[in-house]
Amino acid sequence: MNISEIAPDVYRFSIFVPEINLRFNQFLVKDEEPLLFHTGMKGIFPLVREAVAKIINPSDLRWVGFSHFEADECGSLNEWLEIAPNAAPLCSLVGAMVSVNDFASRPAKGLTDGETFSTGKYNFRFVQTPHLPHCWEAGSLFEETSQTLFCSDLFHQNGDVEAFTESDVMGNVRESMIAMQSSPFADYMPYTNSTERNLQKLAALNPQTIVPMHGSAFSGDGAQALRDLGIVMREVLVT
Ligand SMILES: [Fe+2]
Ligand SMILES: [Fe+2]
Repeated sequence: MNISEIAPDVYRFSIFVPEINLRFNQFLVKDEEPLLFHTGMKGIFPLVREAVAKIINPSDLRWVGFSHFEADECGSLNEWLEIAPNAAPLCSLVGAMVSVNDFASRPAKGLTDGETFSTGKYNFRFVQTPHLPHCWEAGSLFEETSQTLFCSDLFHQNGDVEAFTESDVMGNVRESMIAMQSSPFADYMPYTNSTERNLQKLAALNPQTIVPMHGSAFSGDGAQALRDLGIVMREVLVT
């Protein structure tokens, strides 16, 4: 498990799975109300817990957030709720009502589009993006102080790539999308009639750092990167 601080008090825990040539990233925001974004699969819970314990006391965790209901997003949600008595799941209102409140051992804070909350020094805005990257309940989390976008599977990059980069990741994003399209996972990311509108909503936030679940976090003109992503998605996914 690689641990790196990708922004002040924002830690990335990353595990590389060579069989599928892919990194899985979990993020810890160390603040008055510590937030873990993506738990990773249940199978790697001991590794993620050990990594979190290097930064904070895991039982102090307050929020366990994720974009949509999948194992790499929230597989060990209940394990976290068990060891952190004040922690609550944090997801979209749709996610809470459709899956999480039934699955989780404690009820979720279900966020509506544009809803804001603070963890202390950091201020977050939830952006609802149905079916982007995938799943009805999907959304992204934007931290407004540092202009950081936690974007889940968007900007998916294959390979054992670095934690953080200032160089262009779109080449890898495009190649990874093409590789996915010719694999059994061809329908990983749909291109729907709301894809462009959702990407524009994210671009309007003007993120300066983009933090994907799979691949390198990167800094730069995030709005341009999101517009570029729209072009790549249309090119690769619309046949
Ligand atoms: Fe996903
Ligand atoms: Fe994922």
